Amino acid sequence: MSNPASLVEQVRELRAHAADATNLMRQTVEMLRRERPHYNWVGVYLLEGETLVLGPYAGKPTPHTRIPLNQGICGAAATTGKTIVVDDVNSDPRYLACSLETRSEIVVPIERAGKILGEIDVDSDTPAAFTDDDRVLLEAVAEILAGKLEIGN
Ligand code: SME
Repeated sequence: MSNPASLVEQVRELRAHAADATNLMRQTVEMLRRERPHYNWVGVYLLEGETLVLGPYAGKPTPHTRIPLNQGICGAAATTGKTIVVDDVNSDPRYLACSLETRSEIVVPIERAGKILGEIDVDSDTPAAFTDDDRVLLEAVAEILAGKLEIGN
């Protein structure tokens, strides 16, 4: 498994060469899923008004392509602007099921200049899969993505 620092470096490289934000997000989610075996689903949601809209993702299709801000762990992370780690999704009443196999989840807001632009959502089939390493990695990746996204998307 690749270590967080080298992955952050790889995302910086991707950003330097990506044609646009969509291209960067697509390459980033694919790379994260490939390099971190406990990341079974990796996606980016972008905030449009009061709704989180699914952008590029790697993994199985999800029924949750549009999530209102007042729903889900995704909605909670975007509303509070804080990373949320859920060790056991089945015991969190906010959880919107994406896949029956999912056991834990991390959602990291993508923010620029105090404005929430979207978030990175990662699901794992392993219980309590996400550690501080994952938080540090994904928060750094979110910052890199934020720099390429248009404000007001
Ligand atoms: N589990 C999320 C919904 C998105 S799927 O995981 C892809 C939530 O509770 O907001």
